[in-house]
Parts: sequence; structure tokens; C-alpha cells
Amino acid sequence: MAYLMNGYVRKGDIGEYGHAYATINDRSAIFEGVTGREQVWMSHRDQVERVPAGFSVLASTTTCPVAAIGDHQRRLYGLQFHPEVVHTPSGGQILSNFLFGVCGCRKDWDPRGRIALLEQRIREVAGNRNVFFFVSGGVDSSVAYRLTVQALGRDRVHGAYVDTGLMREGETDFVRQALDVTVVDAREEFLGALEGVVEPEQKRHIIGEQFVAVQNRVLNSGHYLDGDWILGQGTIYPDTIESGGTARADIIKTHHNRVAGIQKLIDEGRIIEPLTSFYKDEVRELGRELGLPEELLDRHPFPGPGLAIRLLCASQTEEIQKIDEGWLVPVHSVGVQGDSRSYRPVIAIEGKLDLEHSTELINRERRANRVVGVIDQHAPICEQRVWEAHLTGPRLDRLRQADAIVRKLSHDSGFDRQVWQFPVIVVPVGTPARPDSVVLRPIHSVDGMTAQVVVMAEDLLAEIARRLLQVEGLCTIFYDLTHKPPGTIEWE
Ligand code: XMP
Repeated sequence: MAYLMNGYVRKGDIGEYGHAYATINDRSAIFEGVTGREQVWMSHRDQVERVPAGFSVLASTTTCPVAAIGDHQRRLYGLQFHPEVVHTPSGGQILSNFLFGVCGCRKDWDPRGRIALLEQRIREVAGNRNVFFFVSGGVDSSVAYRLTVQALGRDRVHGAYVDTGLMREGETDFVRQALDVTVVDAREEFLGALEGVVEPEQKRHIIGEQFVAVQNRVLNSGHYLDGDWILGQGTIYPDTIESGGTARADIIKTHHNRVAGIQKLIDEGRIIEPLTSFYKDEVRELGRELGLPEELLDRHPFPGPGLAIRLLCASQTEEIQKIDEGWLVPVHSVGVQGDSRSYRPVIAIEGKLDLEHSTELINRERRANRVVGVIDQHAPICEQRVWEAHLTGPRLDRLRQADAIVRKLSHDSGFDRQVWQFPVIVVPVGTPARPDSVVLRPIHSVDGMTAQVVVMAEDLLAEIARRLLQVEGLCTIFYDLTHKPPGTIEWE
């Protein structure tokens, strides 16, 4: 707004990602009812240097003198921070003030009737057609499936679960038992198609295409194309906004589900996505209202492409570089910095885990998009390298084994209830005898759009690391100390 209305905006010297405290200078209009100092969530490098004529500065932080601007007369307001995320606790109040105060909107939304409305909408979209679901075992597809069954009746909805070979240990049996669906074994197809692939986007693309290929095969063999069948999906709101909601957001995360094949089905109108206006926490609420078991609803979210985006690959062997702060490890992970997606190396630091220091470091450091702490290791970092590595069966087994160890200890200690998601990642860092390492990434989030690192108790961490280092081929245990932004939750 400042730029378009002839203020002056420039690239800042340092970025501001994550937590900040804003001093509110003017507690009227959008800031009515908030305190003079508010925690806010930032993700920017640009700075407003001069506000446009007619505007005043409503809020500032220590690194961002212009964190909110407003022109009360013309009722124009601009925020540099994100009011829509939970890490801005008064964000809801600010948005309410804007909608109901500044814009004068009416409050006429009653969430109680939403299930009936969703069912009605499903019946409208489906018409006479039946719905075929690929159920992943996650909250989203299970809720979408159950909602559709409730709307159309059991006879008109068929669920299939694809075992891609990229699932966690024990997952297929769990899904078979918890949901009334058919299991399709496609392990060989997926692993075959992913052979030799390194780039995250290519992995995602291949996995998406394989899903479509398997889906077509299943549809054909079950004669679902002869009758009038359409495809149901558990896509939720953040999936749509991070991929196409804003002009440049398509490069932050390519959509999980909308690869070319599925886009064709969408274009032909042969798709139902009943949950596209809901956040994850709302989807859980819907699931509860639909009577799905807590055990299923309480599961941590798990990405559609599965362990493939938690098993990092590399196209060549590279040296780890010593830098002032620690080590620059040339294993590329995906991040999100400002409006764009980054794909950069990682900084590894030794010593006590210090979140404040690592946050400051990653804001200052342009060569990397994450900081990880070294927890325990079989060999010093200076003797380790990044190895050429691919998505192979043995590496997947290694990841599955590591993931199962972490999940069990995290569950038994109660730690899993303190976190929203706990990815366990395998990276090709180590020695010739132990060429892989593990990154632990426990985070807190509400909707996956932003995330905060959760540091676990030292004794639990030591036990996890000790058990992981007994796994064949694992060299070092790292702990991800990067909030989102600038690091995404998954490493890819
Ligand atoms: P990122 O890594 O973008 O992840 O911070 C945000 C949330 O989305 C999940 N995720 C996915 N979920 N299919 C999914 O169903 C996907 O392709 C996918 N990619 C990321 C991720 O696990 C986190 O909860």
C-alpha cells in the first residue's frame, strides 16, 4: 500500500522472520482493544521508509519502524506483520476490528449448520454420480471421505488406500483397520518411478503422476469409469492458499495434489473437495462432529508424498565447509523466505541448543535457510560429507526405522502431545560406513502455515539420539532450530 500510494519502500539490511514485539502507537480503529505492546509474526526484508501522504505510523518493532500504517479518514490500513496466524495473538481482534468496525460488516455466520450445508453441497456437486476416494489415513481425507459417505450413503462412495511404499511403519495395517477401505499395493511402481531422482519438485511431480496412474488403473479395473464416478479429495484451505492464493505463492509450495493429471479431472468437473474452506483445526472439529475416533483425529498430520519428502537426496558428493558460526552443510532443504520458496544449504552448530541465537543467526545469514544443532554423532563433523544419494529401498527402511523409534519414545513420554507435528528426516550426511544422518523437527503449529520449534527435555533427547545411533548407517543426530518462516516444516 505504501509503495502504490507513493510512499517509499526499500530492501532492508536484515530480514525479520518469526516472533517480534510491536509497539502500538494508536490504539483506535484496527487496534482498538489491543495492548500497547503486542507479539506479532513477521516475515519480510522490505521496509517502508516513508509513509504516503495522509497516513500515519500506527505500530513499530525494533527492526521495523513502520509495522502498521493507517489513514483514518480514507479508512485505509496496512500491516507489515501477519494478523492471520496464531503467533499474533491479537490478530483475530485486529481483523474483527477491520471487518466489523472499519468496514461495518454484519456478523451473520452460524457454524452450527455447516455439516448439513456441506452435505447438501456434496449432493449438488455429485448429482447422480458416485464418489471414489483415495484415503491416506490422515485427518483430511478421512473426514472428507466420512462426510461424503454421510451425504451420499455407503453404496455410492468407495474408498481405496494406496500403499506407495512411502508410508510409515505399520501404517497400512492401521488404515485397513480404522477405515472401511480397499488396500492397493503400488510399492514397486512408486519406487521404480522415483529411482535416481533428487530434486524435491521432481519427486512431488512423479509421486503425483504415479497417484494418477494408479488411480486410473484402479478406476479401470473396478469399472469406475464406465459408470458415473468422480474423485473426492481432502484438500484443505492452506493447501489452496500456499499454492495459488496470491500471485507468487505458487512457488512457495507446488500443490500437493494438483499435478497435471488431477488438474484434468478438475477441469472436467469430475472432482469433489468438500474441505477447501477449512483450516486443519476446523477439519478436526468437523471429524469430531461426524463421530470419527479420537485416535484418528489426534494423529499428527502426515504429508501426501510421504517419507519421500523426508528422505533428502543429493546429486553429488560435497564437502562440509567450516564457517565462523559452525558448519555450512551443502544438503539443500526447502524453506520459505518472504514471498518466495528457497532451496539452500543448512548451518550446523555445536553446543547447547539455543533458539534465540539460531533465530538471530538465520535472519542474518543469506547462504542458508536453516540452522540445526548437533545432538550426538559417531564421527566429528569435519570427517563427514554430503554423499550422492537417492531414494532407495534401503534408505527408506532406514528412515522408517528411525521414524518408528522416535514416534515410540515421543508417544511413551507424552512429548507427542506437546507438538503439532514431528517430522523425522534422513539426510545424506555422514561417513562412508555411516552415510546418513537424522534431523529431528518437532514443531508447534495450529494450521501448518507457520510453525515454532519445540525444544524437548534433555534426557528424552539423549535417549532418542542414543537409540537412533544404534541404527545401521546413521552417523549424526541433528535438531532443527528453525521456525517457519524461514524454514518450511518438511525438508523435501
Ligand atoms: P511445509 O513443509 O510447507 O508444510 O511447511 C506445511 C504442512 O503441510 C504438510 N505437507 C503436505 N501435506 N501433501 C500433504 O497432504 C503434501 O504434499 C504436503 N507437503 C507438506 C506438512 O507435513 C506440514 O504439515
